[in-house]
Amino acid sequence: KCVRGRLLFGAIRLSPACMTKRPILIHPDPRLKKVTAPVAEISDDVRRLADDMLETMYDAPGIGLAAPQIAVMSRMLVMDCMKEEGETPRPMVLINPSVIWCAQERSVYDEGCLSIPDQYAEVERPAEVEVEWLGLDGKTHREKFDGLWATCVQHEIDHLDGKLFIDYLKPLKRQMITRKMQKLKREMARD
Ligand code: NI
Repeated sequence: KCVRGRLLFGAIRLSPACMTKRPILIHPDPRLKKVTAPVAEISDDVRRLADDMLETMYDAPGIGLAAPQIAVMSRMLVMDCMKEEGETPRPMVLINPSVIWCAQERSVYDEGCLSIPDQYAEVERPAEVEVEWLGLDGKTHREKFDGLWATCVQHEIDHLDGKLFIDYLKPLKRQMITRKMQKLKREMARD
């Protein structure tokens, strides 16, 4: 019953537990606007959640996923920006992450979000950031991210603070996207 996870992760599979794909919340949803609570300790539940989040992200497919997107209000995210063909996957699990330094230089990226399907818009963010987090190994990690990784980690940390990429857009554009999502949710509810 674990074949799927094995196929996805091969040799780099993170844990022997079975992974479960979880439903992703679609904007607008009050849970996507909430500030999440820090994770107190690395328990089996946290490890299982990390596996499920990775499974859900790869299946979507996406390059990042934050816990509130699957209705878990914990300060935790997963990401893997090695999306180019032939690159070795690098599944990352960041618990209680925070940006501890950001570059003056900005970069603009056409962002999307699994909670706002098929909608993309340019967002400007620091081009490079240093992030500190707790790993599943219980240790504190610190790393500088640039390029797509920098955009992705900032987008996902925003989720943990109840912020979406559309919050950076002009109100009119944001309202337009929100209305499209309301329509999409009505259609999904009918099916
Ligand atoms: Ni997102």
